[in-house]
Amino acid sequence: MRDKHLVQIDTDLCVGCGECVRDCPSDAIVLRDGRAMTRRSDCLFCGHCVAICPTGSVSITGFSDTSESLDSAEALSPERLLTAIKGRRSIRRFLPAPVEEEKIERILEAGRYSPTATNSQNVSYVVLCDKIQEAESLATQFAAQIARFVLPLLPRYRNMEFGPHFFFKGAPIAVVLLSRNRIDAGIAAGNMALTAEAEGLGVLYSGFFTIAANRGRRVRRLLGLSRKDKAAITLVIGYTDIHYRRTAPKERPRVIRR
Ligand SMILES: Cc1cc2nc3c(=O)[nH]c(=O)nc-3n(C[C@H](O)[C@H](O)[C@H](O)COP(=O)(O)O)c2cc1C
Repeated sequence: MRDKHLVQIDTDLCVGCGECVRDCPSDAIVLRDGRAMTRRSDCLFCGHCVAICPTGSVSITGFSDTSESLDSAEALSPERLLTAIKGRRSIRRFLPAPVEEEKIERILEAGRYSPTATNSQNVSYVVLCDKIQEAESLATQFAAQIARFVLPLLPRYRNMEFGPHFFFKGAPIAVVLLSRNRIDAGIAAGNMALTAEAEGLGVLYSGFFTIAANRGRRVRRLLGLSRKDKAAITLVIGYTDIHYRRTAPKERPRVIRR
């Protein structure tokens, strides 16, 4: 993937401020004769050099999108953000109303711009929309097959029943995040879930569907997964048929300060 990328510096625009040199985590840029220059290195193509340059002299080849200016970006209020995080709830009652395509695009964008270890950008997405009912039906069949072996081993789930909306709770879409790195996928999922909330939508993380996506042969086929693909988490998304009035209590965390 990385072969197609090349950091390019327009020496006519470069003012030699050295910001890109100082910020590069791979020491891939040096100052020579008062201008920034790339040098052989294990460049992550993280784009910090593009993001920090005051004159726009740095670019990286091979990306389809152009850099957006952040100069007039509105500051995020920490109080509002924390209230949103605290007020988020797992939604298990959805309306069948469809989710607008532009909202889905922005939710995926939140995943795409999330950090990944060594900037591997190794999270991909299956958006279940038209085939969501078929997927739920296959997942339910899979669950019924394994239930009698697995449930007796799990006291908490012993009485679980797999009704027709067990996995998706009536939601119109679900996004399965694929990655071999569950931390990368988890960070992307968290950002996507917050974005979905900001879009006026509700979200359920579905560990159960994720198991079906990894273990159910027919579910995998419907999702179009290859043998290498690993489902890390599934986000069930839609307009909610429920309104929470206050935050839910949570345990005090174990915090060690030294
Ligand atoms: C990784 C993950 C997987 C989950 N899987 C399911 C699931 O399959 N079904 C479900 O009803 N809830 C699932 N949940 C929701 C949790 O049960 C829920 O987050 C927890 O009870 C706390 O409720 P809250 O999210 O409203 O704070 C999952 C949550 C996470 C983070």
